Amino acid sequence: MSFRLQPSPPARPNRCQLFGPGSRPALFEKMAASAADVINLDLEDSVAPQDKDQARQTIIQAVNTIDWGKKTLSVRINGLDTPYWYRDVVELLEQAGNRLDQIMIPKVGCAADVYAVDALVTAIERAKGRPRPISFEVIIETAAGIAHVGEIAASSPRLQAMSLGAADFAASMGMATTGIGGTQDNYYMHREGQKYWSDPWHWAQAAIVAACRTHGVLPVDGPFGDFSDDEGFRAQALRSATLGMVGKWAIHPKQVALANEVFTPSETAVTEAREILAAMEAAKAAGQGAATWKGRLIDIASMRQAEVIVRQAEIIAGK
Ligand code: COA
Ligand code: MG
Repeated sequence: MSFRLQPSPPARPNRCQLFGPGSRPALFEKMAASAADVINLDLEDSVAPQDKDQARQTIIQAVNTIDWGKKTLSVRINGLDTPYWYRDVVELLEQAGNRLDQIMIPKVGCAADVYAVDALVTAIERAKGRPRPISFEVIIETAAGIAHVGEIAASSPRLQAMSLGAADFAASMGMATTGIGGTQDNYYMHREGQKYWSDPWHWAQAAIVAACRTHGVLPVDGPFGDFSDDEGFRAQALRSATLGMVGKWAIHPKQVALANEVFTPSETAVTEAREILAAMEAAKAAGQGAATWKGRLIDIASMRQAEVIVRQAEIIAGK
């Protein structure tokens, strides 16, 4: 372990982020009533250019009037390469009430992108006397974003979460696919007449997890486009959870339960983790750093692994 301790990420559940276009207000009440931990009202790519101004006002009204319960409420603004983003920030920060928790910045390419939004948000918060600072989440979805993922994770104390955006990432990387997440048709190993599917998102996910864990940010898996494919979603989400991500987006309400299921540690996993902790306490009391549990080696590192699972279960239970 470095002399510098690894910071803890925000202690809030982030198993599922449900998205809805800002230009479809009929969905908002349904989103608020869903089981998602985070709501993302979108001003970016699900809103057509001619609808941006109207969607902004629709979202501001929805933030101020709908009962969002205990959910983290986030609005995805337009990217810094568009003419829309500054107005998104100014109108949201000036007109949306304190119920707005977070702004999602898409297509972040370097720490200075976050700095620019931070400077604008900070000025408006001071001018308006907002009592609670807005937090940020970013999407890594460009070649520049993944190349600079470490500096982006360290860019602002406002930053709470970072997602992989598979579709834009694939486009920016020049990947030969139109699929959004999951295994891709041409990405396999071949041996003795058998195809073995591989995961083309693995490296980007692992890089995001490492950057996030270094700087105390929540790593999140982004969208899975084929919402008819529950098993594909589940398989992708299980891989993400195994790699250290805490949640995944839902771009259709049927994906919310799938994400919640995968990113809530199972009762069996929590029970086993508690058993490992108890076995290690007993080992320590007997003056040992390693022990046997169910025929497996466990040691002090196993305690840290078990603590991750128990902590995650506690956060989800609201403890
Ligand atoms: N949140 C909450 N409810 C939603 C929803 C959403 N994102 N999308 C659809 N629903 C509701 C529908 O209103 C419908 O409700 P009903 O049973 O009361 O009539 C039900 O879920 C089934 O919807 P369905 O007909 O299958 O979907 P659709 O054709 O209306 O919409 C999408 C499909 C993909 C266009 C829509 O889900 C959507 O816009 N998703 C989010 C896209 C987005 O935000 N993208 C940006 C991030 S990548
Ligand atoms: Mg995108």
